[in-house]
Amino acid sequence: MAILTGINKVKTAVFISGNGSNLKSLIKFSRSNKSPISIKLIISSHSKAKGLSYGKIFKIKKRVINFKNTKIFDDKLISILRKNQIEMICLAGFMKILSKNFIQKFNGKIINIHPSLLPKYKGLNTHKRALKNKEKYSGCTVHFVNSKLDSGKIILQKRVKISKNETEKSLTEKILIQEHKLYPKAISKIFNL
Ligand code: GAR
Repeated sequence: MAILTGINKVKTAVFISGNGSNLKSLIKFSRSNKSPISIKLIISSHSKAKGLSYGKIFKIKKRVINFKNTKIFDDKLISILRKNQIEMICLAGFMKILSKNFIQKFNGKIINIHPSLLPKYKGLNTHKRALKNKEKYSGCTVHFVNSKLDSGKIILQKRVKISKNETEKSLTEKILIQEHKLYPKAISKIFNL
């Protein structure tokens, strides 16, 4: 396997809105020799997102963006990403919808992790809905982002068994553990590693 150094790794931005546990696992992965990406920037839709603390801990540049005005947001964000020479974007618990214009500009370069076995349970409250429907399995999916919500080409999925006494909390935790493994694997797959 090729050894990847900081110089030839793909400059990546991670977008978050909350806890950032996937961000943390991606940072750890990105710092290993086998990772094709190097995380150069954290973008958060909320100033109070817990995940922003990883910027400080791991010394990664972070920016908070107000996503309310799409046009201003698009221009500002695109300019920040270009300035930092960002080549790839990983959405990790990012709870805002990106504009079509933005997605087109980074076409094929944005990926997302979603806590369900897509195409099932797109959108919010995935675990609640899976439990309500008495599903035997749920899981997580890493996919390319296109202009339709949670609908781009699937890169990898991991299936998780739902137990008899499963709660929303226990299922969230169980699937998150798998998300932390699946996201790095999906990135390696994109780069044929
Ligand atoms: C994760 O379960 C992620 O899959 C989900 O939010 C959680 C964020 O956790 N994303 C979505 O629901 C996107 N539609 P984290 O902040 O600890 O990574």
